[in-house]
Amino acid sequence: MPVIVDTDTTRAVRLSATVGHSSHVVATVEQLQTWLDRRPNEYAVVLGPDVSMDAAAGLTNRLRLSRPGLSVIMLRTQTTTDLMAQAMYAGVREVIAIDEMDSLRESIERSQQNYDAIHGPSASARDNGKVITVFSPKGGVGKTTVSVNLAVALADNGTNRVALVDLDLAFGDVAITLQLIPEHTIAEAAEVEGHLDNAMLQKLLTRHDSGLMVLAAPTLPDAKDRISPALVRRVIASLRSDFDYIVVDSSPGFDEQVLSAFDETDECIVLATLDVPTVKNVKMSLETLDLLNLAIGHRHLVVNRADDEVGLTIPNVESILGMATIASFPSSVEVANATNHGRPIVLSKPDHPVSRGIRAVAASIAAVEERVPVAAGAGSEPSGRRSLLRRGKK
Ligand SMILES: Nc1ncnc2c1ncn2[C@@H]1O[C@H](COP(=O)(O)OP(=O)(O)OP(=O)(O)O)[C@@H](O)[C@H]1O
Ligand SMILES: [Mg+2]
Repeated sequence: MPVIVDTDTTRAVRLSATVGHSSHVVATVEQLQTWLDRRPNEYAVVLGPDVSMDAAAGLTNRLRLSRPGLSVIMLRTQTTTDLMAQAMYAGVREVIAIDEMDSLRESIERSQQNYDAIHGPSASARDNGKVITVFSPKGGVGKTTVSVNLAVALADNGTNRVALVDLDLAFGDVAITLQLIPEHTIAEAAEVEGHLDNAMLQKLLTRHDSGLMVLAAPTLPDAKDRISPALVRRVIASLRSDFDYIVVDSSPGFDEQVLSAFDETDECIVLATLDVPTVKNVKMSLETLDLLNLAIGHRHLVVNRADDEVGLTIPNVESILGMATIASFPSSVEVANATNHGRPIVLSKPDHPVSRGIRAVAASIAAVEERVPVAAGAGSEPSGRRSLLRRGKK
């Protein structure tokens, strides 16, 4: 998705809404360069009116040979013939007046077509986001707390585009944890399932002021039944093309929607606490994931409330589960306090041990090599899945 360079944040938000919700905003040409270095499939750069012609010319000069498919579009408060000539000479693809938002939209479309003509169809929408599912068979162990904080940490003040999907479809509380009042939820994706496309999906997302985009759970629990496993796979797959990371918060245990999210999962955070029932259920669910061939080699054990003195220790848990922990977080009233105030701990207390731990998890997950995708036909039910679920429901 396009990247916008603008120092004026109010204007940048307006431009971003025109260009598309998942577009990215940076303040300077230097920040743009860092952004582009990490995104080989970027197809359009929009330079706000404060970027000087010299800076624009320097940029186009650098990009001319290294990124021939990338279009640079300039916005200006006034567009004179002289300015147009200078810009074209410098290699700027189009100059657009700041109040001509329709022209900007069209220009972005042309840029994408141009990129695809050079790099092959749909090259600009290459699926490259990483999907991270936070899972635990038990309720109340901290899945939502970890998902929300991990998503905010991965967004890293706008360095990465991150979507957070609330797959606790009956009782999701991601929105309330972030003090968001979503206008739309995933339930609306079910209404247009047959013809859901990326643009429609973008409109269902709610922006958090950290830059994070949230796909909220339905407002009423019964909507869950209308959200098919195939839709869940499709939603996550679409988000991959527009975001760097997609964090999925899940409901306790395996429902069929959470299982289908595993088909699209690159990395899975398995959350446990230091109590025997939880560890027993985590063990059973790992065996189920093994049977279904899901997230093998890409599971990361995290222990929450790891300082609770209840007889079990982290080494006990590791030995029962046959896995090493990648992180453990202490119990802290400040974590619950942050949730209750709608301000995740990584934002409200960045130096808190839990915030540091979450950032370390974010860094280690981001560094994991890409997985080999699990073969599962889109829209089909992977074999053995239904019988396993039925068995689980007995
Ligand atoms: N490390 C922690 N220290 C203190 N409180 C915590 C910690 N982690 C989570 N909590 C609190 O525990 C409660 C449950 O956490 P959370 O909602 O994240 O769990 P969950 O696994 O998503 O629950 P559910 O299965 O119901 O969705 C919340 O009030 C949260 O603030
Ligand atoms: Mg939860």
